Order: sequence, then structure tokens, then C-alpha cells
Amino acid sequence: MLKICVCVSGGGTNLQAIMDAIDAGKITNAQIVRVISNNRGAFALERAKSKGIDAVAVSPKDYEDREDFNRAFLNCMDDVKPDLIVLAGFLVVLPPMMIKKYEGRIINIHPALIPSFCGKGFYGLKVHEAVLARGVKITGATVHFVDEGTDTGPIILQKAVEVRPNDTPEVLQQRVMEEAEWEILPQAINMIANGLI
Ligand code: GAR
Repeated sequence: MLKICVCVSGGGTNLQAIMDAIDAGKITNAQIVRVISNNRGAFALERAKSKGIDAVAVSPKDYEDREDFNRAFLNCMDDVKPDLIVLAGFLVVLPPMMIKKYEGRIINIHPALIPSFCGKGFYGLKVHEAVLARGVKITGATVHFVDEGTDTGPIILQKAVEVRPNDTPEVLQQRVMEEAEWEILPQAINMIANGLI
């Protein structure tokens, strides 16, 4: 059984998609052992708790400096000894020590087709604003392994989504989530849990 720790910062709809996929048997051989958020007020923590999943906030605001936060975050991760770390809308740069320690065992969902609209500064709604500003007709989402760079690790799955003429960033974000993110993130986890990658 693959032990997963999911890291979240906000609403947690991707976390919900993972929990639903486990319930529906679309993800097998895996269980979420902990959800960690950098944001105490993240609704994602409530989603986890309502399923009886251990949910913990580790906020940089509670620590003197970044090093202290990084240490606490790493300890909170190590406590549950996860086989896989899933970044599901996690808007914090991972401590380099964590990336090294869990090399090849961290995945991220990005709301665009990497290598477009990714890297530093491209997160959340900003990605969709940039997509609309550039006028591309196709966007999508990417699940990739995490390395030391920002959105540079090996790609696992991608799915394309149409951009429509009257899209706002919010409308496009919702379509990308519904048609791509909530599908390919659970799918990638199931592939890893069943030795298909
Ligand atoms: C998702 O769209 C995810 O792809 C994005 O944040 C959103 C979180 O939504 N992640 C990034 O931009 C990371 N670079 P959620 O909390 O409802 O899952």
C-alpha cells in the first residue's frame, strides 16, 4: 500500500479528486496518510478532516526564519514516512533537503501544458491570466516529478483543454481543473501505486 502525503495551500479541489478516486476504486493500492498545509485557514484541511484523514498546518508565520520552517516541515513529513508526496496546489517552494531526501517520490500538478506558462511566478490564477493574455487556443494541465527547478522535472501526464473566446481566468481555471487536473492527478497516482511508472 503506497503511503501518500498530500501538500495543499488553498481550496483543495485536487485533494478532493484524489480522495474521491480512492473511494471510487480508481486509485488502488494507495492511502493518504497525512495532509499538510502551509496555510492554517486552507479549506483543504477541512476536506481532509471530514474524511478522517490526519491534517496538519505548518505555517512559515509560526517560525522565526525559513530554516526553522523548513526543518519543521521536513519533520512533519518524515513523521509519516510517505512513499509519495503529492503537491496538489501547494504554493510553497520545497526545502532543498526535502527534494533530495524524497528524490523521484514527489509529484506536482501544474495548471498548464509545461513547458508553456510555467516556472517562477506562474501559479494559480496567474497561469490562466497569462494564457489569455497570450491568446493561445489550447492550454491544459501537467503532472510531473519534482526536481530542484521550478516545474522542470520529468513529465508524467498531460491533458489539453480548449480555450474559448469569452473565457475569464476564473472560467478557464475551472475548465482546466474539471477536464484535466482532476483526471490526470489521480491517474498518475494510480500508475505510481501500481508500478506502472
Ligand atoms: C490548481 O489549479 C493547481 O494546479 C494550482 O493551484 C490550484 C490549486 O487548486 N497549482 C499551481 O499553480 C502550482 N504551480 P486546489 O487547491 O483547488 O486543488
